[in-house]
Amino acid sequence: MSMSATIDQRPAWRALQSHAEEMRNVHLRELFAEQPGRFAHFQRQAAGLALDLSKQRWRPKTFELLLDLAREAEVPRAIEDLLSGERVNRSEDRPALHTALRLPADASLVVDGEDLVPGVHRSLARMTTMVEKFHAGQWRGTTGQPIRDVVNLGVGGSDLGPLMVTHALADYRPAGAYEINVHFASTMDGSQLADYLSRFNPETTLFVLSSKSFTTIDTLSNAQTARDWLLSRLGDAERELAVEVDRDLVMRQHFIGVSASPKKMAEWGIAEANQLEFWDWVGGRYSLWGAIGLPIALVIGMEGFRELLAGAHDMDRHFREAPLEDNLPVLLALAGIWNVNFLDIRAHSILPYDGRLEYFSSYLEQLEMESNGKSVTHDGQDASYSTCPVLWGQLGPNAQHAFYQLLHQGTQAVECDFIAPLRRYDDVTDAATRTHLMNQHRLTLANCFAQSRVLMLGDDAIDEPGERPSHKRYRGNQPSTTLLLDRLTPRTLGALIALYEHKVFVQATIWDINPFDQWGVELGKQIAGETERILASHQGIETMDDSTRGLIEALWRTEEAKGS
Ligand code: F6P
Repeated sequence: MSMSATIDQRPAWRALQSHAEEMRNVHLRELFAEQPGRFAHFQRQAAGLALDLSKQRWRPKTFELLLDLAREAEVPRAIEDLLSGERVNRSEDRPALHTALRLPADASLVVDGEDLVPGVHRSLARMTTMVEKFHAGQWRGTTGQPIRDVVNLGVGGSDLGPLMVTHALADYRPAGAYEINVHFASTMDGSQLADYLSRFNPETTLFVLSSKSFTTIDTLSNAQTARDWLLSRLGDAERELAVEVDRDLVMRQHFIGVSASPKKMAEWGIAEANQLEFWDWVGGRYSLWGAIGLPIALVIGMEGFRELLAGAHDMDRHFREAPLEDNLPVLLALAGIWNVNFLDIRAHSILPYDGRLEYFSSYLEQLEMESNGKSVTHDGQDASYSTCPVLWGQLGPNAQHAFYQLLHQGTQAVECDFIAPLRRYDDVTDAATRTHLMNQHRLTLANCFAQSRVLMLGDDAIDEPGERPSHKRYRGNQPSTTLLLDRLTPRTLGALIALYEHKVFVQATIWDINPFDQWGVELGKQIAGETERILASHQGIETMDDSTRGLIEALWRTEEAKGS
C-alpha cells in the first residue's frame, strides 16, 4: 500500500478497535440468540465450496467494518495487481504468478511484453508426454523393466503440495494406466530415503529432483545418496550380465529434474530431455500447479491434473470478480484479521474431517506461516500489529483424542477451520461396504458439526446443563469457520487450495507485508553451513556461544569414543 499512515492508524482500523471493545465480552451464544437466520447471513458459496462464517465472534456491524478495512487497504486493487502480473513481490522485484499456471490455453496474460500462457501450456504438454510414457509402462529403467516406484526428492514447496494432493486424490487414478507408486523423501537426515532404498528395486525406481533453486542442501544430499545407490546397485545388476554400468543411461532412465534453473540441473547431470523447467515468478510454496506437480499427475493423470488447475482457476475468477462481501478468500482473510488483530486470538487450528486431507494442515503451515510470518512492512518499518497467527492442525477426528482438550478447556483462545466433504463413499461398488463406509462418514460429519457447536456454545450445547463441577465445565466461545465441499474431487481441491492462497494474499495486503519472500529462512541455512564446517574440521569452536560449544563437544566426545 502506498499510503503514509500505517494500517493501524487508519479510520477503519480505529473503528474496528473501538467496536472490538464492545464485542470483547459478548459470547457466541448471545450472538446466535440475538440474530435469527445467522447462518444464512454469514454463509457464502463459490467454486463448489460453502463457507459458514456464522460461528465467528462477530456481528453484521463487525462484518461491515471489516469490509471498510479491506477497501481502505485497497484489496480490490491488490487483487488486480496480483492477477495481472504486477511486481507484487517487491523485495525480489517480480510478479507472483501462480495463477498464470492455471489459465486455460485460450487465455492470454501479457507481462513485460510476453504472453505467458503459451509457455505454461508448453510445459504442461511436456509433462503430458512424460506422464503418458509412465502410464503406458514405457518409461523403462536401464535393465528394460518399467519404472514402478517414483520418489520425489524435494522439501518445503517442492514436497508439501505434491505430497498433500497425491494423498488427497489417490482415489482418482486413471483406469487402465500402468500403476506408478509415488513416494516422498524430504528430510535432510536421509531417514525417509534410507527406508525406500532398503525396500525398492533400483531397476524399477526413478527419482524426481524437485527444487526451484536446485541449491537446497536437504534435497541435494538425498539426491546424491540416491544417485550413488543407483549407480552401485545397477552396476551390480548389470555386472551379472557382464556389462559395465552406463552412467549416462542411468541418468536418462532414472532421474527427472524440476527446477527454475536448467543450468544447475544440467550441471548435476539431469539429461536435457528429463528437465522440466518453471519460472522464478512462481513461488516455491505456490508451485504445485506446474512441473512441481509432476508426482500429482503421475497419480491422477493429466486429465485429473487439468481438473485440479480448472478448480483453482474457478476460484481465481471468483476472487477477481465477486464483490468483497461475497468473496470467499476475502471473507476468510477478514475473519482471521478480526481474530488476530482485534480479539487477540493468535492461534489457528486446521481440522479436516476426511482422512484424505491428512497433509492439508502441514501444507497450510508453510503456505500461511512462511508467507505471512513477517514483521516488517513493505517500506521496511516494524509492523506495530500482529501478523500471521501460529497455525497448526491434524485430522479432526484424531485431534479430538489429542489436543481438543486444550481447545475446549485450555486457557488459549484458538480459531478453528473445520473442513469436510458432504458426499463420500457413495461410489463404492460393494453394497455392504458402501453402507458401512457411508455410515462412518455420517458419524464423522456428526463429530465435525458437534465439535464446532460445543466450541461455540460450551455447556449450553447440553439440553439441561444443571450443576456441574468446574472441571467438567466448558466455557465455549471459541470461534470457527466450517468449510464444506460437496465432494473432494480434483476440481474442488484445486478451488480449496486457491482459496487459502488468496486468503493469505488478502491478509498480507491488509498487514502491508510481502507474502512472497522468505528471508527469515536464510540465516539458519548460512549458520548451519558454518556449524557443519566446524563439526567436520574441529576448527573455530571458540567463535561459538557457550551452549553451542557444549553441544558440539558432546558430539565430538561421542565420535571419539566410537573412533569415527
Ligand atoms: O528454505 C525455504 C525454502 O526456500 C522454501 O521457500 C522452499 O519451498 C523450500 O525451501 C525448497 O526450496 P527449493 O524448491 O528451491 O529446493
